[in-house]
Amino acid sequence: MKPLQAFLLACAVTSLAIVSSLADVAYPSHYDIESAENLVPVRREVYGGGRIIDISHRYHPDMPSWESTDGVGQFTWLQKSMKNGSLANNSEMRLPVHTGTHVDAPGHVFDDYFDAGFDVDTLDLDVLNGPALLVDVPRDKNITAEVMKTLHIPHGVKRVLFRTLNTDRRLMFKKEFDTTYVGFMKDGAQWLVDNTDIKLVGVDYLSVAAYADLIPSHLVFLKGREIILVEGLKLDGVQPGIYSVHCLPLRLLGSEGSPIRCILIK
Ligand SMILES: *[C@@H]1O[C@H](CO)[C@@H](O)[C@H](O)[C@H]1NC(C)=O
Ligand SMILES: *[C@@H]1O[C@H](CO)[C@@H](O)[C@H](O)[C@H]1NC(C)=O
Ligand SMILES: *[C@@H]1O[C@H](CO)[C@@H](O)[C@H](O)[C@H]1NC(C)=O
Repeated sequence: MKPLQAFLLACAVTSLAIVSSLADVAYPSHYDIESAENLVPVRREVYGGGRIIDISHRYHPDMPSWESTDGVGQFTWLQKSMKNGSLANNSEMRLPVHTGTHVDAPGHVFDDYFDAGFDVDTLDLDVLNGPALLVDVPRDKNITAEVMKTLHIPHGVKRVLFRTLNTDRRLMFKKEFDTTYVGFMKDGAQWLVDNTDIKLVGVDYLSVAAYADLIPSHLVFLKGREIILVEGLKLDGVQPGIYSVHCLPLRLLGSEGSPIRCILIK
């Protein structure tokens, strides 16, 4: 036998062996795992000694949900479980797409854009990935044109993460939705569109727009279909300054929003 044929045969035999050993076991609870005392998962906020900062929130039932007092609630269900004799555990998920750390596509507030297919699959990964500035916003106001002026964000800056009072108030860690969160007022959004090169706008609660200017601010940002809105970021304890941001939405065809994983790299 030639070496390649021998290799392929060996592969086939091995996979057959795996399949038959799976089928033999009626209730396979585990395969060759370490002893139970080592089974403590590590959950991290930073990786690589602090070089990679996770700025996405963990999805859990008690995280806030838009205009709800009860939080997100259960969002995964075990459809097949090993305890019930399945070969593996398989969960299903049901979650509003604008939950937790997420992205808005132009179809979110423009019906024509929605119908034309401007969904999250059409968002530009070149905007969602690259150098980004993390700035602190004055804590006593919503983000108005006046506030935007005082931030002095230089021309050429394409991605900005705005940290607000929402982070200090730990609103994303509170189950109850809070309408008093800080966000962009319409004139602040307009000022950004007219006077800066910002194409990625990141904020630290569920909406970039203040509740009082919810739709007007979204319309201003999304009309040109160039600006991408990332909401519900976890910016706690991160130094202001320049980072490399990396945000990746799911390719949900026809969806105007998606959960998004965002990290900063120093
Ligand atoms: C599989 O699901 C069962 C519940 O039926 C759970 O107790 C067990 O921990 C799960 N196993 C794994 C490997 O996730
Ligand atoms: C196992 O199956 C029973 C009976 O169909 C069902 O009531 C139970 O919820 C299942 N458990 C899991 C963890 O899937
Ligand atoms: C921001 O606007 C909301 C209404 O959308 C208001 O409840 C809140 O008090 C404002 N926050 C600040 C810091 O002015």
